[in-house]
Amino acid sequence: MKTSRMAAAKRPRVDLNRAVIFLGPPGSGKGTQAKVLADRYGVPHLSTGDMLREHVSRNTPLGAEAKPIMERGELVPDSLVLKMVAQRIARLDCKRGFVFDGFPRTVAQARYLDDLLERRGFGRPSVIHLVIDPALLLRRLTGRRMCKVGGEIYNIYDRPTKVEGRCDNDGGELVQRPDDREEVVASRLEAYEKQTAPLVAYYRQRGVLHDVDAAKSVEEVGQQVRRSVQPARRGIRRGKVRS
Ligand code: AP5
Repeated sequence: MKTSRMAAAKRPRVDLNRAVIFLGPPGSGKGTQAKVLADRYGVPHLSTGDMLREHVSRNTPLGAEAKPIMERGELVPDSLVLKMVAQRIARLDCKRGFVFDGFPRTVAQARYLDDLLERRGFGRPSVIHLVIDPALLLRRLTGRRMCKVGGEIYNIYDRPTKVEGRCDNDGGELVQRPDDREEVVASRLEAYEKQTAPLVAYYRQRGVLHDVDAAKSVEEVGQQVRRSVQPARRGIRRGKVRS
């Protein structure tokens, strides 16, 4: 997890103390917003897509199994994803909460997570549902470029870098994800509709879902996200907030 000095200075005097889940179709802005929110509260940004891509690049047994599935734009089996997530949130840096991006993605994953959160002493999660017209997604996905060094996300149409092909933060090379090709994007959107969209009703029934208009600018979406997340105040003792 990378937390900039400026983000730390702007960090609110409150702890997140929960899991925040970003739910939305590919390209709706989960990664963009999850990174900002996690930075703001100084907690880990947990992207199961990034974790799986890391396994693929290191050619681990998990990565070898996941690679062809991801290239087809399908979901990796729950059995592989759940163990990876359970191990990650058991780490010390997740004590004050964390932000999920791309997890859970099936009802089975959501049920497993409910159980895991309860066992680890966290309350109910806050779920940010990024609502967007599917027509906007193709442009966002095919235009996306990622920094190979720090993972910063850009878009050749809407968020270009100052120097073409180079990250504004660290000068790292920008690359396109293999699954952002137009033909794979269609399979990813189909997988979302079939396997992940039912989670909207799942979390709405539990009263933890916040709808956010994801068609707005990154800054406006960020404002809606911040309003939706109501964290516990840090250091409350006998009704007073410690400075
Ligand atoms: P994953 O990496 O999670 O990809 P995804 O869900 O398809 O989502 P994306 O990362 O493509 O989009 P995003 O919503 O994060 O948008 P972003 O912020 O980047 O998963 C990849 C694969 O891994 C899956 O297909 C599956 O195989 C596997 N996998 C992962 N998790 C799994 C799980 N739990 N179970 C099983 N399999 C799993 O933004 C996109 C672009 O839009 C960027 O260029 C950005 O700059 C731009 N943008 C963002 N917000 C705005 C805005 N408000 N206005 C204009 N442009 C914007």
